[in-house]
Amino acid sequence: RTLESLGSLSGKRVVVRCDLNVPLKDGVITDDGRVRASLPTLNALLNAGARVVVISHLGRPKGAPDAQYSLAPVAQRLSELLGSPVTFASDTVGQGARDAVDGLADGQIALLENLRFNPGETSKDDAERRAFAEQLAAFGDAFVSDGFGVVHRKQASVYDLPQLLPSAAGTLIAEELDVLERLTAKPERPYAVVLGGSKVSDKLGVIGHLLPRVDALLIGGGMLFTFLAALGHKVGSSLLEEDQIDTVKKYLANAEELGVDILLPEDVVVAASFAADADHVVRDVDAIEDTPYGDKGIGLDIGPKTAAAFAERISASTTVFWNGPMGVFEFDAFAAGTKTVAEALTTVKGLSVVGGGDSAAAIRALGFSDDQFGHISTGGGASLEFLEGKRLPGLEVLGWQQ
Ligand code: 3PG
Repeated sequence: RTLESLGSLSGKRVVVRCDLNVPLKDGVITDDGRVRASLPTLNALLNAGARVVVISHLGRPKGAPDAQYSLAPVAQRLSELLGSPVTFASDTVGQGARDAVDGLADGQIALLENLRFNPGETSKDDAERRAFAEQLAAFGDAFVSDGFGVVHRKQASVYDLPQLLPSAAGTLIAEELDVLERLTAKPERPYAVVLGGSKVSDKLGVIGHLLPRVDALLIGGGMLFTFLAALGHKVGSSLLEEDQIDTVKKYLANAEELGVDILLPEDVVVAASFAADADHVVRDVDAIEDTPYGDKGIGLDIGPKTAAAFAERISASTTVFWNGPMGVFEFDAFAAGTKTVAEALTTVKGLSVVGGGDSAAAIRALGFSDDQFGHISTGGGASLEFLEGKRLPGLEVLGWQQ
């Protein structure tokens, strides 16, 4: 079900679920990628003469209004990018929202306040979720689901709302799936997957699912230390998930049986503390505690030898998927690994895909532009779960996943 399947939308009220969950610092948007990614669908609806009611979450407020998670800055940015006014409603389903929706003329747009200020949005109770979805449905004659980053959530605006109105997927979802299906159906070989980020527990499912499907798995970020610990290395005070060590050992053995290369760091950058200006040194992985900081040292980036080896492997691959920074890229001193990996992705001759809000924000913060990569997915958890082969509630309900 695509936008076209909804027929003429002129004069109709269309509720659009976007993922406008952007990173904010002191109320200022630090990466507007998700707002920009929502523009094609919104422009298509506005040009069709619809009255567009945009809904989204931002962050993880606890089911009640919380000023730090207000979508107000997003309304302003959206208005700048669209080049037309966006009415911002100070609540989601209250009087403010009703007034905003009632005030729309054809071809005009409103953004309602954060969905997650309402307990019904994320409730595990079907009836509570459904009741909230019904309040949202009252604002529309049709519904468009375009928040790819949130399709893995069984939430009111993602899963229940499409069951209450004539619904379709927007162009962002269509485009995201088009690329991700190329990664799952028949990726051109060699196929390398680069995983980073802090927690290995978040990535175990995808590692297990991808192992038989890839030629190489490159491991960086905070999660690398659980792999090093599984190999018997001391990791000082680096991030470590002790309860995952046995699982990681099984994956390492499995990779060997399958003939898949798991590339682990040879060296890491060890810092005296977790701080932007922390004293730091480079050490091979068997000497992480062999620094002036002893067992207090914290690994905050992959080392230069590792970055070079990763870059070589990435450049030699025809298909590459990357999720998760290699180190604490927000601190200049620990951004080199992530930068080298990003650089290597720009040289891939086939398909390079960057998955996830964090990785997308990282490459933009490091000065790369979107068009240097094959595709930048707006979904972190969503793209990983898709690659994991999981059924995603927000796609299933639209008939986009069988
Ligand atoms: C994301 O940032 O991955 C999406 O916006 C989903 O957010 P959530 O993990 O808080 O559901």
